[in-house]
Amino acid sequence: TWTMLNIAEEQIERVREQIGDSGLAICGLSGGVDSAVAAAIVQRAIGDRLHCVFVDHGLLREGEAEQVERDFVAATGVNLHVFDARETFLAALAGVTDPEEKRKIIGREFIRAFEAAEVQVLGEAAEHGDKVGFLVQGTLYPDVVESGGGAGTSNIKSHHNVGGLPEDLEFALVEPLRTLFKDEVRLVGEQLGLPAEMVWRQPFPGPGLGIRIIGEVTADRLDILRRADAIARQELTRAGLDRDIWQMPVVLLADVRSVGVQGDGRTYGHPVVIRPVTSEDAMTADWARLPYEVMERISTRITNEVEEINRVTLDITSKPPGTIEWE
Ligand code: XMP
Repeated sequence: TWTMLNIAEEQIERVREQIGDSGLAICGLSGGVDSAVAAAIVQRAIGDRLHCVFVDHGLLREGEAEQVERDFVAATGVNLHVFDARETFLAALAGVTDPEEKRKIIGREFIRAFEAAEVQVLGEAAEHGDKVGFLVQGTLYPDVVESGGGAGTSNIKSHHNVGGLPEDLEFALVEPLRTLFKDEVRLVGEQLGLPAEMVWRQPFPGPGLGIRIIGEVTADRLDILRRADAIARQELTRAGLDRDIWQMPVVLLADVRSVGVQGDGRTYGHPVVIRPVTSEDAMTADWARLPYEVMERISTRITNEVEEINRVTLDITSKPPGTIEWE
């Protein structure tokens, strides 16, 4: 629509003014809509002077890394640096089962990996004589309000202490979504031609599939969960329910086994839990009454196509008392 086009153009113009003719900017992409739209706006404003960084931690769902590396790049022409940190994350998570510990480890490794990536990207840019000065973030209006941030707070200094960078290097924040709500961000994303799967992606936690495996996170378990989750998402989309359902985590109970019968024989496989919820803001949620046919297709396909899984269960708990995620 006209208005959204105006919003996009206005933000692009603002970024152009803020960064000027010579600054460089860096932006981390998560696979989610906010960082993608923020990056797309800055790319329109300053082109190749924007360097995007994508750290692949191996905890994304099927197809999501490709959406960033291939589809987002194709749609925007953005300058992307990909860092494969999958092994590092798996090693750091080995043997860990406690949910809070998992979150801490994933958060810490993410910062480390992103900083290492930044050092490398900025180092390369500096070799070409470029002066880097801006860090792009996908902060939305509700975040700004929540943190009580008013005018002037966006020009904070000093990134964390990153070894290997010039000491006097200062980053100003560029926050092109600072005045927008989520639905406006999505419309701007569409306007800028971003892949629909990214623009309309349902909320997905930063720690990713790492907190949807109950028990230790391993490469095999991630692979099992990823396949089951992809089927559940496909069937939700096919039923036209993506926008009615707030989120539908698929959770792998990796330390639980139950007896089943599949094909010619007895199996001893894992259950998954399907957790479809409706919600306005994730503070409270209700378990979603999915149509029986949809549940049936999800169950049949997962047990047929993911041989490690022999049982599909449905979570019918609202929030409270259950949280949306299981960890
Ligand atoms: P819970 O499980 O607390 O989740 O009902 C509420 C919403 O927040 C998401 N979530 C997270 N998002 N980092 C995030 O970016 C996290 O660590 C995280 N934990 C939960 C969850 O998916 C739901 O939308």
